[in-house]
This record gives sequence, C-alpha cells and structure tokens, in this order.
Amino acid sequence: MTILVTGGAGFIGGNFVLDWCVDSTETVVNLDKLTYAGNLDTLSGLQNNPQHVFVKGDIGDKALLAKLLAQYQPRAVVNFAAESHVDRSIHGPGDFIETNIVGTFNLLEAVRAYWTDLEATKKAEFRFLHVSTDEVYGTLSGTDEPFAETNRYEPNSPYSASKAASDHLVRAWHHTYGLPVVTTNCSNNYGPYHFPEKLIPLVILNALAGKPLPIYGDGQQIRDWLYVKDHCSAIRRVLAQGRLGETYNVGGWNEMANLDVVHAICALLDELKPRADGAKYVEQITYVTDRPGHDRRYAIDARKLEQELGWKPAETFESGIRKTVQWYLDSHDWIANVTSGSYREWTDKQYGGQA
Ligand code: NAD
Ligand code: TYD
Repeated sequence: MTILVTGGAGFIGGNFVLDWCVDSTETVVNLDKLTYAGNLDTLSGLQNNPQHVFVKGDIGDKALLAKLLAQYQPRAVVNFAAESHVDRSIHGPGDFIETNIVGTFNLLEAVRAYWTDLEATKKAEFRFLHVSTDEVYGTLSGTDEPFAETNRYEPNSPYSASKAASDHLVRAWHHTYGLPVVTTNCSNNYGPYHFPEKLIPLVILNALAGKPLPIYGDGQQIRDWLYVKDHCSAIRRVLAQGRLGETYNVGGWNEMANLDVVHAICALLDELKPRADGAKYVEQITYVTDRPGHDRRYAIDARKLEQELGWKPAETFESGIRKTVQWYLDSHDWIANVTSGSYREWTDKQYGGQA
C-alpha cells in the first residue's frame, strides 16, 4: 500500500513523513516543489529507506500528478503543500494564489481523474485529506468561544483567504463529484524542523545569536499552540477514521499570548544555555511595527475530533516547548543550512533595522 503526500519537505509534512516511516510499513511518495520552505535535510534520515520516495515537483503540474498517481496507485493523498507564512503573503500574495488555490485545484482535478477510474473497492477506500488552518475562521475577541467547525469562514490575510478558498474547492469536489475528502483545520504548530521565519524558531535562534527578539505590536495576540507531532497523529487518525466530507478542528486547548510564549522560551534558554554575560534572554525583547491586519486571537474547539475519533494531544506546551528548544540547541547543521542565503534576504526585508 502507498500514500502520496504533498509538501512533505516542509515543517509539518516533513514531521508527518518521518513519523509515517516509523509507525507504518506503507510506502510514502513525497511530492514537494522545494520552495524556500522545503528542505531535504529534514528527510536525510530516510535517504536509504525504500519506504520513502521523494519527487521534486509542483502540485499544479497535472501531467506529473497523473504520472505519479498511475505509477504508484496510492490509496490516499495527504495535501500539505502550500505557501504558509502570513508575513510573506502580505509582501507578495501571488504565490499564495498560485499554489494554495490554483495548485489545489489542479491537484483535485488530477486526483479526481485517477479516483474515477479506480475499481469499486479501491474507489470506496480512497481518501483525499486536505490539511488546513484555523486562520480561515478569522479572528476572535478575548471573550468569544473558540472556533468550532460550524464557525463562518472570515479569513483576513492573503494567506488565510487562499487557504479558505482551497478548503471550499475541496468541499465542492466532494459534494459535486463525490471525491472522498476529509479536511483538518489546525491551530499554530511548533516543534522540530520549523523554518525560522515563524515566531517560535525565530525567537530561539535570534536569542542564541544575541539578536533582538521582535514582538509585533503589544505582544498580547493569542495563538493556540500544538506540538507538531500531535498534529501529525491527528492527521493519521482522521485519515483512518474521519467521516467523508467532514472537517475536523485540531488543537491543544493551549492559548497563550505571544509575549508569554517568548518569555517561556527565554526562561528555558536561561536554564539550558545561559548567556555568557550572565544576563537574561528577555533583555533581547524588542517591540517592532505590528503586522497589518494582525488577527488578535485564535483558539480551537477540538471536541469533535476528541469525541468522534478519540484523539488527544500527547504533549503539553511545557513538555513540547522544552523538546523544541532542546532540538534547536542540538541541530546545528540543519540550522546552518536553512539560515543561509535567501533567509537573510527575508529577515532584512521583513525586519529592516528593527531586528
Ligand atoms: P511549510 O511552509 O513549512 O511547508 C510547505 C511545503 O510545501 C514546503 O516543503 C514547500 O516546498 C512545499 N510547496 C510549496 N508550494 C508547493 C507546490 N506548488 N507544489 C509542491 N510543493 C509545494 O508549511 P507547514 O507549516 O509545514 O504547513 C503545511 C500545511 O499545514 C499548509 O497547508 C499550512 O497551511 C497548514 N497549516 C500550518 C500550520 C502551522 O502552524 N505551520 C497550522 C495549521 C495548518
Ligand atoms: P507566526 O509564527 O507567523 O504564525 P501566524 O501568524 O500564522 O499565527 O506568528 C505567530 C504570532 O507571533 C503572530 O501573532 C505574529 C507574532 N509574531 C511576532 O510577534 N514577531 C515575529 O517576528 C513573528 C514572525 C511573529
């Protein structure tokens, strides 16, 4: 048996592929365009493992997809491939429209053509799992209830609008063509192999490099953090047991203000790798210009996944962030490779002289 994963050289897809090769004996074909966010170093442990087949390519390339689907006959497709960073979507939304919307459309069409011709049993067992985000629901006030699957879609950034559009396409391909889809909408992830443009890895690496820790606005924006391996276990559960056409919110009931997240990282670094000058890492915190249209609060109501499919996260924020900080302290080669070249161009563009 085989599954096809897209975007499996990125942060969450990479963790998913690594875990899959431990938990399962099924082959995983990994289609990834290797944008700035795709990194084969993440998968270096699978280099001589025949269970993992890496293919460099675009989810928008229907001919390539048709060839891969015919060749490997997957029983499922798990779609992680996307442009994923809100700040980049503000600087340049075009790639987000291209990959997240047009790319998902082309992928759906290629998968539909393949699925239509499957014989009855395989057709009934086939799954298309679309990995999406809580950001499609927009923003919450401090007193609103967490996002349930029934919330209206109210995306606010080019990133979340493009993901919302992709979710709608997936839903429509189920209702119109009967494609057997399930969608997951997850809150903010953190953990190993996270590209350091996102808050948690950026703060860890800037702290260690003696650089400013940039806090947008007042730092009181709230995110609901989930350890990436817990997201991967939720995806495996939904793939195995999720009801067709349904969406499942994934989260760890762990809302934190950004400033508290940064303080927690600083405290761990003070313990695990104290500054040579004896000062505390929090002294590096710097308030910078806020993100335009910055969503104030995200929070996930994960009861449907818990009650229907019995899924629960294994990590608390305390255990997950400790593992994460330790991983960054131990992973010099991975960090050296991702922070060269184009990464520096990005940080100059985004933070200018501020961080
Ligand atoms: P990422 O940016 O780290 O990785 C994306 C991967 O997709 C990269 O390997 C990139 O090379 C690949 N890719 C980009 N465009 C492609 C294309 N056209 N064809 C093939 N491959 C392409 O993203 P991530 O954080 O791992 O997120 C994965 C998915 O999970 C995304 O769909 C994202 O919207 C969703 N998600 C992310 C989070 C989070 O906190 N990071 C939370 C919820 C949902
Ligand atoms: P991010 O990791 O970009 O995820 P998202 O925007 O998808 O939630 O940002 C998490 C939060 O941290 C968000 O409220 C923006 C904030 N943030 C900063 O304060 N400083 C930074 O340098 C970055 C990258 C993010």
